[in-house]
Amino acid sequence: MCGIIGYVGFRNASQVLYEGLKALEYRGYDSAGIATQRQKKIKVIKDSGRIEQIHSKYNFLQLSGQVGIGHTRWATHGGVTKQNAHPHCDCKKEVFIVHNGVIENFDELKMNLIAGGHSFTSETDTEVIAHLFEEELKSTKNAADAFASAISKLSGSWAIAAMKKGQQTLYLARNGSPLIIGVGRGEMFCASDVPALLPYTKKVIYLENGDRAILTSGKCLIYNKEGMPAERAVHYVEWTAQMAEKGGYPHFMLKEISEQEEKVKEALAADVSAAVQLLKNQKSFCVVACGSSYYAGLVFKTALQAGTGTVVDVIIGSEFANLWSGKDKVVVAISQSGETADTLAAVRFAKGKGAKIIAITNVAGSSLYREADANVLIGAGPEIAVVATKSFICQLAVLLKIALLLSGKKAQLAKLHGLPSKIAQLMKSSEEIEKIASILCKRKDFFFIGRGMAFPAALEGALKLKEITYLHAEAYPAGELKHGPLSLLDENVVVVALAPSSQNLPKMLSNIQECKARNAQIVIVSDSKEAFEKSKLCIKLPPCETEEIPIVYVIPLQLLAYYMATKLGRDPDKPRNLAKSVTVE
Ligand code: AGP
Repeated sequence: MCGIIGYVGFRNASQVLYEGLKALEYRGYDSAGIATQRQKKIKVIKDSGRIEQIHSKYNFLQLSGQVGIGHTRWATHGGVTKQNAHPHCDCKKEVFIVHNGVIENFDELKMNLIAGGHSFTSETDTEVIAHLFEEELKSTKNAADAFASAISKLSGSWAIAAMKKGQQTLYLARNGSPLIIGVGRGEMFCASDVPALLPYTKKVIYLENGDRAILTSGKCLIYNKEGMPAERAVHYVEWTAQMAEKGGYPHFMLKEISEQEEKVKEALAADVSAAVQLLKNQKSFCVVACGSSYYAGLVFKTALQAGTGTVVDVIIGSEFANLWSGKDKVVVAISQSGETADTLAAVRFAKGKGAKIIAITNVAGSSLYREADANVLIGAGPEIAVVATKSFICQLAVLLKIALLLSGKKAQLAKLHGLPSKIAQLMKSSEEIEKIASILCKRKDFFFIGRGMAFPAALEGALKLKEITYLHAEAYPAGELKHGPLSLLDENVVVVALAPSSQNLPKMLSNIQECKARNAQIVIVSDSKEAFEKSKLCIKLPPCETEEIPIVYVIPLQLLAYYMATKLGRDPDKPRNLAKSVTVE
């Protein structure tokens, strides 16, 4: 996944583009570049490395002009090199483009263009777009038509911003990757995501798949996939630029963990009626998601099956086409970004078989949001850290609300309103958790174990640790260790045991004993005094309802992963090899 941005107006374009790329850096950060145009001269600064590193080396702000494009990359085709950084250009250096997505037919296009005399300077799929644009300009002087014709030859996914020498104009195209237009006064913006636009405008247009647009300082013309002029709604974004800033925290991740007390209230107030309406008569249905969102789906399954007997099948997006029965009339898609390619591909496959789609997402106007039949917004606000924290908690709150409404458990639902105060109490144990992190960050191998509703929390805790510390961690149903993984346990292995007071506790205590007998280092996460006796390392939690377990038990694990990562010198906001939204399959 990558971040793209474009500007045309009265400001110094390089300032807008540089600041905007920093707001988009969570989308990919292995290389970056900016191109601006002044008096028909286009200048480019690009390199591998993070935006600030490139800026301190070259100074992006030396670029002049009031029109330009910028890009921050997460490599898919071609290594992390200066040549492969965007923007890319044509042979004559008259057309410059930035792109997020994957051009699936780029090999064939590249071969034909090379046969036609074009010379390439990068290994990327993206560069073919610039040469296609150049080729089309040979047969028509109308740049908009040439751009449209170039785009019509692509297959795959794209969000493209292009600039042509001699024109104060941006040419945009969107298919499968998000592209948003920011509407200003005497200026126009485009970006992959809202935070890059917030300092300048809250009026945004979400381009649809197949759309093209032509931006000048005072005008925005949009054409649909048939090439006809199209009207797209102008939305007013509630988010402020500050919400997308760190707010005094050392990292976005800690800020977003700290927001959970507030955000869970918003999630519990979410309008879930559309989802309840579609699900209430379903005896079975399927959930599709990836990563943390998949674990949220497991919580939804456990809560709903216990409450209604509905059969819920939870499938990861990349396996959906292999595993889905095809019989469900309704599929619930859970995705914070609403842009995860694996989940979108599953949704489109299910829609092709006639299923109705319910989207549980955080981003209004995202691809999933627009392609669903019913939407529930989780209200987490912009989540900038690559790893999911507040969005996961808000997904759980919304899904538990739906499950309890469908189960008719209004009393249990009412009890969920006690969560914010429980979360506030949990946050007070941060210091204790940081001390445990100081001990554990020296260890290399971790098992997270749990039963029932604590098992999805164990999965999420292991994922958080893996993602930001780069240490090996895996989660297992506690009862499953003795069927093989127990052979891995010795004094070098840490077992984090989630042991809430519940009907599972007696067996959980036996499983902890099995691990102790193999000399593993035990960390107890529990509200039970009996469990605390099993180890010196304990994270003590308040008693909680069954439905509250996944939320109450995952927050300490988020903090544990965060403190271990920072003690290991990792960047918890931008872990290596990862991106906030994985828009490739
Ligand atoms: C979570 O910490 C990860 N960043 C990742 O597993 C993420 O949950 C997954 O890629 C799904 O993203 P989505 O919710 O935006 O679809």
